[in-house]
Amino acid sequence: MALGLLYLGLTLLGILKIQAQNPPPALHLNPPLYKVPVQPDFQDDQFQGRWYAIAVADNAIRFENLTQLDMYNMIFQLKDNHGYNVTYAVFSEDYCELWRTAFVPNIQPGQYTLENMTSFTGVQSHVFRVITTDYNNFAVIFVKILYKDRIYFESVLLGRGKELDPTLQESFLDFAKSLGLTEDDVIVTYPTGNVQ
Ligand SMILES: *[C@@H]1O[C@H](CO)[C@@H](O)[C@H](O)[C@H]1NC(C)=O
Ligand SMILES: *[C@@H]1O[C@H](CO)[C@@H](O)[C@H](O)[C@H]1NC(C)=O
Ligand SMILES: *[C@@H]1O[C@H](CO)[C@@H](O)[C@H](O)[C@H]1NC(C)=O
Repeated sequence: MALGLLYLGLTLLGILKIQAQNPPPALHLNPPLYKVPVQPDFQDDQFQGRWYAIAVADNAIRFENLTQLDMYNMIFQLKDNHGYNVTYAVFSEDYCELWRTAFVPNIQPGQYTLENMTSFTGVQSHVFRVITTDYNNFAVIFVKILYKDRIYFESVLLGRGKELDPTLQESFLDFAKSLGLTEDDVIVTYPTGNVQ
């Protein structure tokens, strides 16, 4: 299932993985990076390890007509160059997919870009930021990709566990709206029994 990640509502990951022939549909929004904070004094060692995606906001998700997005996790492993190996594990009832990539530090602490970006056909730029985190409980991340002249961006509320305080979800929704998104562009993941 080559298009798996797209069908799972993970358009940005799908783009990196399969580099689709045509850029998938997306809202024409271009939030400037100055509207996206970076965690002050970011501690890359403390950010390592497993995070669960609790809620996802992005400018492509509404075009996938999802009724449910299964929970997935991301594992960050710090490298000697202060980048990360990142492993995504996506689970659904009949499906499990692992995908690995590597990030390198970019411009400021808490900001990364793809290692070997030129090997991803069609990807013209990629920025990953840790917006805020307390390292032990929650984090909010942001990814922006320019792919075949189309802008895709995504913010994800991450938890060290599979549940988070609802007030964090509310502030996440407020942040998504500050990027020009609406409730239709935010989806709370469904914690499948399978997710590790
Ligand atoms: C979502 O629904 C719209 C309208 O019914 C349709 O045009 C579009 O192809 C659907 N998208 C997917 C990914 O199925
Ligand atoms: C990162 O991934 C590379 C390639 O898969 C591997 O050789 C390396 O040991 C990994 N490093 C860490 C710190 O996980
Ligand atoms: C990036 O490219 C270098 C040199 O071609 C290679 O050694 C390294 O394994 C590549 N890293 C990834 C994550 O593909």
